[in-house]
Amino acid sequence: MDIQDVKTIGVVGCGLMGAGIVETSAKAGFNVVVREINDELLQKGMARLRGSMEKAVSKGKLAAEDKQAALDRISATTDMEAFSACQLVVEAAIENLDLKKQIFADLDRICPPETILSSNTSSLNITSMAAATQRPDKVFGLHFFNPVPVMPLLEIVRALLTSEETMVLGRALGEKLGKTVVVAKDRPGFIANLLFVPYALDAIRWYDAGLATKEDIDTTMKLGFNHPMGPLTLCDFVGLDTLLFIADAMYDEFKDDRYAAPPLLRRMVMAGLMGRKSGRGFYDYGK
Ligand code: 3HC
Repeated sequence: MDIQDVKTIGVVGCGLMGAGIVETSAKAGFNVVVREINDELLQKGMARLRGSMEKAVSKGKLAAEDKQAALDRISATTDMEAFSACQLVVEAAIENLDLKKQIFADLDRICPPETILSSNTSSLNITSMAAATQRPDKVFGLHFFNPVPVMPLLEIVRALLTSEETMVLGRALGEKLGKTVVVAKDRPGFIANLLFVPYALDAIRWYDAGLATKEDIDTTMKLGFNHPMGPLTLCDFVGLDTLLFIADAMYDEFKDDRYAAPPLLRRMVMAGLMGRKSGRGFYDYGK
């Protein structure tokens, strides 16, 4: 399949990442089918997406008529069968490998045999998702970054049996979405999180050890290295539960202490301090 053949993209899940992928795809001219497990989550995701598009309009990044045209290209549903109309599907459900394998098996049954299937997972094994289908050559990873409409990177992951044709299509898709593409092997963390996670965990370890205040740790990396966010602010932004999940997946595979979650991180997650999404992490975000 060629990129010109891709008219309709499916997105499984309309959470933070799913909504961003839907927005980016619709703005790039694709028709999009987005599916959530119930109406409440679907409406929440679509409200988030509309809010982001309104922000883009108010920042002068998107014309009001283009916003409406993009919204008109989106079809929101709770029915998995709607993915039968898609030439490419991006799975952006919660990070649970058994659930993802089930989604891939369902997509394999529902979608035409030529449809390409991808996952936005940040750390789970793409090869095992591919193995849940009869088309492992047409399965690969498409790892977007939050906020998806703003971040210019797209990490493409080649699983063990992904074909060259699928990788070529992935690159072309990334370009059409206005992203710069990098390619990684199917190892937990790919490129981005393999480098980011040890850095984030170190920031937490040194903060916990009393090296400096959280503000001074963050200011150092912001002003000394020109990062838009310091590491602890970024941990809150990513979500401490998400960070812990990725670190555990990486530790599980590599058994390397660099990826071992610090006790403070695990306890913060246990205590419900997830970062921005819960209102409190290293910093307080109010209600
Ligand atoms: N649509 C389009 N453009 C938008 C937009 C939207 N909804 N919202 C904002 N923008 C644009 C703005 O116009 C602005 O563009 P400009 O620089 O050309 O003026 C730019 O995006 C920045 O927006 P703001 O000025 O509103 O916001 P900030 O300057 O405060 O930046 C931020 C916010 C982009 C989140 C910035 O703080 C940042 O880059 N933080 C780091 C984010 C990051 O590292 N993300 C990766 C997380 S890791 C991940 O996702 C992987 C996972 O596996 C863990």
